[in-house]
Amino acid sequence: MTSATQQLTVELHERSYPIDIGAELLHRTPLFPALPKQLLLVTNAPINALYGETVRRALAAHHVITYCIGDSEHAKGIDTYAAVLDTLIQHSFNRDCAIIALGGGVVGDLAGFVAATYQRGVAFYQIPTTLLAQVDSSVGGKTAINHSGGKNLIGAFHQPQAVLIDTTCLASLPLRDYVCGLAEMVKYGIIADGDFFTWLEQHSAALMARDPHALQTAIYRSCAIKAEIVAKDEREQSVRALLNLGHTFGHAIETEFTSTWKHGEAVAAGIMIAATLMVQQGRLQLTDQQRIERLLEQFQLPTRAPMMSFDRWQTLLQRDKKVQAGTVRLVVPTAIGQAQVEPWSDWQAIQQAIVSMSSATAKTR
Ligand SMILES: NC(=O)c1ccc[n+]([C@@H]2O[C@H](COP(=O)([O-])OP(=O)(O)OC[C@H]3O[C@@H](n4cnc5c(N)ncnc54)[C@H](O)[C@@H]3O)[C@@H](O)[C@H]2O)c1
Ligand SMILES: [Zn+2]
Repeated sequence: MTSATQQLTVELHERSYPIDIGAELLHRTPLFPALPKQLLLVTNAPINALYGETVRRALAAHHVITYCIGDSEHAKGIDTYAAVLDTLIQHSFNRDCAIIALGGGVVGDLAGFVAATYQRGVAFYQIPTTLLAQVDSSVGGKTAINHSGGKNLIGAFHQPQAVLIDTTCLASLPLRDYVCGLAEMVKYGIIADGDFFTWLEQHSAALMARDPHALQTAIYRSCAIKAEIVAKDEREQSVRALLNLGHTFGHAIETEFTSTWKHGEAVAAGIMIAATLMVQQGRLQLTDQQRIERLLEQFQLPTRAPMMSFDRWQTLLQRDKKVQAGTVRLVVPTAIGQAQVEPWSDWQAIQQAIVSMSSATAKTR
């Protein structure tokens, strides 16, 4: 038996939009209400092979062009961006067209940036197929491409018209990519909802088994938390920064170990550093840090960062977009369910936390 489809709204006045969450939604006709005739479906070859036909069947009443980008973070660059625009222009897409992203965060971020900029902005729809994209990147309107000088350096806020989350897609996702989405769920529990964190602890085995009911509940609660934060602060002037828990440290790991560490893995190790920093300051209970560590372990995520000199850490941390005048802005947990953003200039304390949470044997799967 599958759960009934659930719907949430991201409340952003005239830019409000629905998120539908359920099983087998890719077969649904119409896929989205009020879609225009002219559609560009952006995906990549493996996802197109798995789900492209199903989506095109559901869009049979429309004129659909499919564009496959490469299957890696490298595809999220200026060359691909230009190639997608070429396709839109070659096929005479007008301002009434829509762009649909079918894939993970790479496809979603790139397709969203195309939609944000083509003819000063066209309609955009998200069909996220990784757990990370379903609980995080497809919601909230951040779109971006990378530059050789750094990740996500070129981007825009452009909210989708709707998000369609088909939980059935997760069955084909490799384990490593799957658990990266779980890392973002742990983050939501820590920053905003202690009860959800407890629920994750109680359902960790079901989630690792990809139980459909547990998954739908977890995705719904994650999207609800993100939607609430985005509704309060669409452009990250305040509370939205909480979503970066573990990310300042995580980005440093991702940058240095691009080929061996995935985003969610680096975030997991980053969350452990942030939690340890607070334990060492006497501002988070050790038992809370231990609960976080145990949950990440149950999700087969790394809890220790790889070895890196502190000079290198400092260089990478200061490159973060959240750095102002040499002071890092850190998201720090003060309890499970509660975190805050703080300017931090005590580098010795940061070093101590990093050293205690690094290991020569820290590795991904
Ligand atoms: N916009 C935002 O708010 C936001 C938030 C977080 C992350 N991001 C971005 O998201 C990207 C990472 O996203 P990701 O983790 O989804 O990675 P990804 O898009 O690279 O997908 C991971 C892998 O899974 C494959 N895949 C996708 N769906 C599948 C399925 N259902 N079955 C089998 N294989 C499948 C992909 O082809 C890829 O190889 C990064 O570029 C990051 O910067 C954006
Ligand atoms: Zn993230």
